Amino acid sequence: MRLPLSPFVFLVPLFASVAATGSDLPSARVHCTLAASGGDDAPQFLRAVRACPVVTIPASTTIIIQTRLDMTGLRNRHIKLQGKIRFDPDIPYWTGNAFFIPFQTQVTFWLLGGENILFDGGGTLDGAGQAWWDSYVTNTSLLRPITLTIYQAKNALVHSIQMINGPEWFNLVNEGEHVIYKNISISAVSTSNNMPRNSDGWDIYRSNDVTIVDSIIHNDDDCVSFKPNSTNVRVENLDCTGSHGISVGSLGQYPGVYDIVENVFVKNIKMANAQNGARVKAWAGPNVGSGTVKNITFQNFIETAVDNPVVIDQCYMTNTTACAQFPSNIYIQDIWFNNITGTGTRSVVASLLCSPDGRCSNINVNDFSLSYPAGMARYSCQNVNLTGNAASLFSPCTVT
Ligand SMILES: *[C@@H]1O[C@H](CO)[C@@H](O)[C@H](O)[C@H]1NC(C)=O
Ligand SMILES: *[C@@H]1O[C@H](CO)[C@@H](O)[C@H](O)[C@H]1NC(C)=O
Ligand SMILES: *[C@@H]1O[C@H](CO)[C@@H](O)[C@H](O)[C@H]1NC(C)=O
Ligand SMILES: *[C@@H]1O[C@H](CO)[C@@H](O)[C@H](O)[C@H]1NC(C)=O
Ligand SMILES: *[C@@H]1O[C@H](CO)[C@@H](O)[C@H](O)[C@H]1NC(C)=O
Ligand SMILES: *[C@@H]1O[C@H](CO)[C@@H](O)[C@H](O)[C@H]1NC(C)=O
Ligand SMILES: *[C@@H]1O[C@H](CO)[C@@H](O)[C@H](O)[C@H]1NC(C)=O
Repeated sequence: MRLPLSPFVFLVPLFASVAATGSDLPSARVHCTLAASGGDDAPQFLRAVRACPVVTIPASTTIIIQTRLDMTGLRNRHIKLQGKIRFDPDIPYWTGNAFFIPFQTQVTFWLLGGENILFDGGGTLDGAGQAWWDSYVTNTSLLRPITLTIYQAKNALVHSIQMINGPEWFNLVNEGEHVIYKNISISAVSTSNNMPRNSDGWDIYRSNDVTIVDSIIHNDDDCVSFKPNSTNVRVENLDCTGSHGISVGSLGQYPGVYDIVENVFVKNIKMANAQNGARVKAWAGPNVGSGTVKNITFQNFIETAVDNPVVIDQCYMTNTTACAQFPSNIYIQDIWFNNITGTGTRSVVASLLCSPDGRCSNINVNDFSLSYPAGMARYSCQNVNLTGNAASLFSPCTVT
């Protein structure tokens, strides 16, 4: 038995193990193709993925998902989405049945996990978010599902997929190891006055070795967010519009929990009409957690009309009094902001505000060319000794 090899050379390692151990594959049909049933297509999609190494949803086909997709623990599977998968916005159903993700009280339509997973094909994942955004306006306790959760996956590649109108976050990588996203387009667009909310492009949580490259994102919240215990992450060649930027955190939200974000490399980012550009955010206050942020590089950012192009915020979601009394327990070290150019919408174009007593160390700023078109650009910093050729822009730095 032979699997069709992908035209993309870099996919070969994913499937090399399949080719080498072809005899371990299920004896079932190698290739299954789905057709729309007219009703809930989740059962046939689940059956196909259990039985067939390759499952295709052809270009002319839209399958409708009305019940949750548990595709965990797969091995050597290729889902080829050329058509469309649409998640039916049956809010009462999903309210009781979406999979619960304990972190930040999230839920999801789809858990996809296991070993050697390829999800590609140029097709569309449609979260049917409009109904959710419209309902959220009158019910802000509505739990809106994450569109796709890569869950406990080892060796997963999501390639050439268009994701539209997620009700909430588009992608969560939860407890993953070696997960790659390439050539993804993300877009959340409302046709009513109720705008998309919390439409993060990616959140990474308790995962190691994650790559996100060559993608275009139009959303209203974090473009990419490195949540607790994201390590060895590479993000490169993203074009983000309308977002809250590329963020480490928020970290330290939960008392008694230790959060680590380490070895993150972010390069070649276009950031337009955004709330933030490159950001590190940590909670402070009386009842929060602790942790470390270490070895993070933000490099080659071109920012256009960004409210806060460069940010360290150690008082995230914390008022001034509480932040001064209970400084953040997140220690931030070895951070590089390199080659950051473009325009801010506010006078302060870079704001590196650390909690006192050495919470921030070895913070490097190089090759900044930021302007504030309506006036003079200002740089603020607090409780940090900056290194690099842009450090003088910030001095003097206030100490609290
Ligand atoms: C709001 O959403 C919550 C959570 O999904 C649900 O339990 C509750 O019944 C909804 N409230 C209303 C008024 O619809
Ligand atoms: C990128 O994905 C789109 C579908 O979103 C596809 O049409 C295009 O061919 C892909 N490009 C590459 C280089 O794979
Ligand atoms: C992060 O990893 C550390 C070290 O393994 C662990 O102690 C901590 O509980 C983890 N935190 C989270 C949020 O998973
Ligand atoms: C810092 O992170 C980068 C990118 O992930 C990695 O290549 C490098 O080895 C890390 N440096 C150290 C000292 O761990
Ligand atoms: C700075 O970033 C810009 C935009 O990404 C890039 O074209 C340029 O080569 C970078 N400069 C250096 C010295 O790397
Ligand atoms: C600031 O936050 C603290 C702790 O969360 C809270 O007790 C206090 O009421 C807040 N103060 C103001 C002025 O909001
Ligand atoms: C900055 O450096 C000075 C001199 O080495 C040191 O006394 C001070 O504690 C440092 N401040 C911070 C916030 O690290």
